[in-house]
Amino acid sequence: MDTVIRLGLVSNGTTTLPAIDLDKFIILISSEHGVRAREPHGRIILRGQSPSTRPMPPDVLEFSVGAMGGAGTAHHHADVIMPPVPPGLTMLPSEMSVRPDVAPYLPPTDTTIPFARPREILHLVNGDTIRLEAGLVRRTLNGHTYTMYGYNGQYPGPLIEAARGSEVVVRFSDRLPDSSSIHWHGIRLDNAFDGVAAVGREFTYHVRFPDAGIYWYHPHVREDIQQELGLYGNIVVQPEYSPANREAVLMLDDLLVADSSIIPLGKESPTHALMGRFGNLFLVNGEPGYRLSVRRGEVVRFYLTNASNARTLNLSFPGARMKVVATDAGPFEHEAWVESVVIAPAERYVVHVRFDKPGAVALVNNVIALDHLFGRFFPEVDTLGVVSVSPHAVVHDLTKSFAALRRLPPPFAAQAFLSRPPDQTLVLTLETHDLPFVTERLMQLDSIYFAPVEWGGTMPMMNWASTGRQVRWVLKDPATGRENMDIAWHFPRGTPVKIRFVNERRAFHGMQHPIHLHGQRFLILAVNGIPNENLAWKDTVLVPAGGVVDILLDTANPGDWMLHCHIAEHLSTGMMMHFTVN
Ligand code: C2O
Ligand code: CU
Repeated sequence: MDTVIRLGLVSNGTTTLPAIDLDKFIILISSEHGVRAREPHGRIILRGQSPSTRPMPPDVLEFSVGAMGGAGTAHHHADVIMPPVPPGLTMLPSEMSVRPDVAPYLPPTDTTIPFARPREILHLVNGDTIRLEAGLVRRTLNGHTYTMYGYNGQYPGPLIEAARGSEVVVRFSDRLPDSSSIHWHGIRLDNAFDGVAAVGREFTYHVRFPDAGIYWYHPHVREDIQQELGLYGNIVVQPEYSPANREAVLMLDDLLVADSSIIPLGKESPTHALMGRFGNLFLVNGEPGYRLSVRRGEVVRFYLTNASNARTLNLSFPGARMKVVATDAGPFEHEAWVESVVIAPAERYVVHVRFDKPGAVALVNNVIALDHLFGRFFPEVDTLGVVSVSPHAVVHDLTKSFAALRRLPPPFAAQAFLSRPPDQTLVLTLETHDLPFVTERLMQLDSIYFAPVEWGGTMPMMNWASTGRQVRWVLKDPATGRENMDIAWHFPRGTPVKIRFVNERRAFHGMQHPIHLHGQRFLILAVNGIPNENLAWKDTVLVPAGGVVDILLDTANPGDWMLHCHIAEHLSTGMMMHFTVN
């Protein structure tokens, strides 16, 4: 034991313990000669354990050897490229031998495929027409050249800056080996152009931008492949925020590679179907090692979009002061100082950061990961980029406006809906079958204790080997018993709807789900019954494992729309439904 903490004296009756600031602990009572004993010397009885000790198998060794028998159920492919094991994790031999039961997929490559260029910025006004072409590109990341996908030969796709209220025409052409589409994430456009179904080689989208905010576009066909390979771009619609010296639009992603190759994707069905595909190479605007140079005292407005398949980020600039000002489709009621900002896949946040000391400030993802096998928590800190602050002071000093926290009227009078029962409830859960023995067994242990958010993807081999053939993520409507695409909700236009998401506590392997609703916007009313006191319009919300989230949907935009989990592998394994606004 690393740390022994004296909790107090025990007498007959009930003893209330102080809070214990440890991830993992056991509680012992020892019988001592005197009340002043600092360390236990006498006889000891075990009186309790932290929940985090519970995923540990009663006999790890016996289990790991015994589990090897089950490894034979895995399918073997010749020359499989396996995901690397993250440092600090212990893998069972049986876990190392599992393989996905789908054929590996990587884009066809040859040396005539052009190298991608950094994105360009498209300033659009009403009536403009642009062209977006999805095609193969080559990209060199950390000295390795990979064949990937890109829009207009760029990484990420072009940055679209559009005026609020404008409407533009997008001529899309698909030059990929597979069919695709463009979904305009978060934009309340005409239902016909929502881009959920695969289109032919050419398609013309009419996209209108009614709301200021930060949006993005991506395919809606096998996102687990197409988004991972680089098909995404940002859209900024004429926002009005408090002042900043400069703006930076950052698309954040994590790509899963093993040096010279991208880890292949699943051809018939996604790999990584359990937790989603966590990458090991962080990318900001398509490149590792983001760099920005600013002057001392500069206030930078960062638009942050999480385009990764599965990873929820916890971002900060240690040493610089940060306030959060807006999210998906609008500003927060009040700006707030924050230490870090949590961004689930598909969510966006706008933060203002002031760099007031010369030197280097890192952009880091700082999370606590869980080693599921040993019930051990460990920190993971990844540097996504560095901001260099020069000693020269910024010309236009914003000290005063930055120090103030702007307040706005609430975006909607949501108070009355807080105590109302939900109009619809959706349970988030999963079904599995034919998983390898070792996976089945470890997942069962894991369901005894789980983290509300899986930050690190710390079951890399078992997760990789699970495919859409074994895992089906489920949205269940308890009112009708219907699931996924069999659910069809109907809402009259203009009547706000309260929806409750219940992320099933008892699911076989609970996980957080970033839930996205197309074509509308909503407010987060409450999380686990705690009212949200800082409202903002959103289109994606993270529902933690075991958590309950209430939203209020603004049903303003008629049409037939999708609701789904934005972990690409969960979506591609069924976690979607539709609803109609009449
Ligand atoms: Cu960003 Cu239906 O997706
Ligand atoms: Cu999900």
